[in-house]
Amino acid sequence: MGRQWDVVSGVGVTALAVAAARAVETSRPDALTEDPYALGFVEAARAPVKLPTSQVEAAAFDGQGYWLEATTYVAVRTRAFDDYFRRAAEAGVTQAVLLASGLDSRAFRLPWPEHAVIYEIDQPLVLDFKLRVLREHGATAGGVHRPVGADLREDWPTALEAAGFDRARPTAWLAEGLLPYLPAEAEESLFQEIHRISAPGSRLAVETIGDLSAGLAGTAANDGVRTLGVDVRDLIHTEQRPAPADRLAGLGWSVREVAATEAAADYGRPLSPSFAARDARYVFAHRP
Ligand SMILES: C[S@@+](CC[C@H](N)C(=O)[O-])C[C@H]1O[C@@H](n2cnc3c(N)ncnc32)[C@H](O)[C@@H]1O
Repeated sequence: MGRQWDVVSGVGVTALAVAAARAVETSRPDALTEDPYALGFVEAARAPVKLPTSQVEAAAFDGQGYWLEATTYVAVRTRAFDDYFRRAAEAGVTQAVLLASGLDSRAFRLPWPEHAVIYEIDQPLVLDFKLRVLREHGATAGGVHRPVGADLREDWPTALEAAGFDRARPTAWLAEGLLPYLPAEAEESLFQEIHRISAPGSRLAVETIGDLSAGLAGTAANDGVRTLGVDVRDLIHTEQRPAPADRLAGLGWSVREVAATEAAADYGRPLSPSFAARDARYVFAHRP
């Protein structure tokens, strides 16, 4: 993986693909989550191949239904973590950190509590692009918004604290669509660092996927991203590592795990068999 990327290169392409999926979901009358900025991101990126932003385009993109299945997975995941931030706000947590936030627009579209401060960490070029598009759409954040351009394999906590992060204040952390792209030692350090700078009362939500690489082999979704010149399998680290739920429990956090299949069924949008087989889970942890 290169040291720097934007939304049409390297792992940044995955942020664009997820935004495209959210645009497709937003176009549905029964959308699980609505992202008014997702379409604008895809249009502004001017990728060499335009990713689908409606159900019709998604179905036509691969002709096999796979891209639509991926969209359902992204919609379920997005909604599950939207609900997590709503619960954190209700519990009075006013500091949030979105790790590898990509083109996530939650800072601009969720109802945040009064005095909320929302940090987003991703590569500088990804954040610059996102903020430019949001500005063009007249978006305003629901709290104080502090983007932090940093590499999550390096000393990101120093950059976060330099931007104003307060380690005495309970935090709602999110790691969504991130872990497969981190080498094992960076993942270990990520959890240790989160623990080190989290006040009691902090929360963490994490997406884990059993074996993303196996799930992607020869799939139309990966073929779609490959048209942009990136093979997702080349971006993924597959070394064995402890499960996040075990790691967090070992650090003294209380942990609840929800299978993506269960979340999808609860939202009335079951996953396709190929996505159900990926063993994706959402870990919700709380530091007493
Ligand atoms: C699949 S996208 C997920 C984006 C966002 N969380 C979402 O769900 O919409 C992966 C994101 O991880 C970011 N990323 C991957 N490795 C990173 C690293 N070492 N440092 C900073 N960001 C990283 C990429 O730039 C990209 O935005």
